[in-house]
Amino acid sequence: MEYQVTITETLSRREYVEASSAQKAEEQVRRKYSDCNIILDDTHFVGVDFAVKNVWQETLPLWQKPITPYYKSPTHDFNLVCGDTFELLPQFNFQFDMIFADPPYFLSSGGISVQSGKVVCVDKGDWDKSMSQDDINAFNLKWLSLCRDKLKKNGTIWISGTYHNIFSVANALTQLGYKILNVITWAKTNPPPNISCRYFTYSTEFIIWARKNEKVAHYYNYDLMKHINGDKQMTDVWRLPAIAPWEKTCTKHPTQKPLGLLARIILASTKAGAWILDPFAGSSTTGIAANLLGRRYLGIEREEEFAAISKARREEIEDGRTFSTYRKKIPDIMKAEDTQTDCFTCHDEVVERLPFLADLPITQ
Ligand SMILES: C[S@@+](CC[C@H](N)C(=O)[O-])C[C@H]1O[C@@H](n2cnc3c(N)ncnc32)[C@H](O)[C@@H]1O
Repeated sequence: MEYQVTITETLSRREYVEASSAQKAEEQVRRKYSDCNIILDDTHFVGVDFAVKNVWQETLPLWQKPITPYYKSPTHDFNLVCGDTFELLPQFNFQFDMIFADPPYFLSSGGISVQSGKVVCVDKGDWDKSMSQDDINAFNLKWLSLCRDKLKKNGTIWISGTYHNIFSVANALTQLGYKILNVITWAKTNPPPNISCRYFTYSTEFIIWARKNEKVAHYYNYDLMKHINGDKQMTDVWRLPAIAPWEKTCTKHPTQKPLGLLARIILASTKAGAWILDPFAGSSTTGIAANLLGRRYLGIEREEEFAAISKARREEIEDGRTFSTYRKKIPDIMKAEDTQTDCFTCHDEVVERLPFLADLPITQ
């Protein structure tokens, strides 16, 4: 019989802070701790415990249990888990170079629009139903806090939104100790019309770019962004179209982002080989753009219907011709190719596989 003996050493230290509530005090100390402003060492040792168990997966702590993926690409650079991000994120120990998140905007409240000449309801699904401002704030604070633990110390996060959620996201970022770097305005070149004719046509979304730490420098490919912008500094207003028909070949997610937008984000803020997380993956536009650019991806998506679209999209680019056709359709990739071919080639040593993912279950 094989036994697993877990040795748990307990370190404990007292911190005194001024705060308006116990919750705020805890948040302050947690932030100091994760920024390494509090370091526990053996002077804080208070005890040791030995726990003996049979080696059997059921007995392992949650973060040591391998997570079963919904899909893994043959080269392990595209990984998808189907489940709730709030439950899954605390279950593994891994830090990513970059996170892109397109969370629920909470704007599905029975609105209408026009598509192909027809009046249609713009509700996206139950996951997007409007909620009270307090609930939206609590939701954003929670997932952004979980994501901060999953970022490398020099890592950055991008979050998309509209006025419905973006101010709440910005507040949560600041509260959690992230540093906001830019707020990108994505000006859609082909927005749908406003049929009520009582407001300006909505034609923008915002994408906040923030880094994990106030004091730790982030990566920005300034030269490439300048080159893409015709040798002028790239501004924070990006004029890019919404998704094109060729991006819908595996059926479409109701809020699918265009690959061109994700390609720019990834080229600006990561090097080849980087690991990218998307906690609200949808149809995995982030993952497809990541792989087209030689980056690696983990997506988490709750709805199996959308996970299936992600898998189909990844399988589609297994075909080398489709892979290069899609690259050619993205102007930023073409511009990057004529100046910085090495932004697609990985020189650093990187983790090849996500250590906490089990092998795919064998299907009949
Ligand atoms: C705005 S969509 C993302 C679309 C994606 N960017 C794309 O291009 O396809 C948000 C996604 O988050 C998923 N979602 C919402 N809450 C979730 C949760 N708690 N855990 C995992 N996924 C969640 C929804 O099912 C939805 O597909």
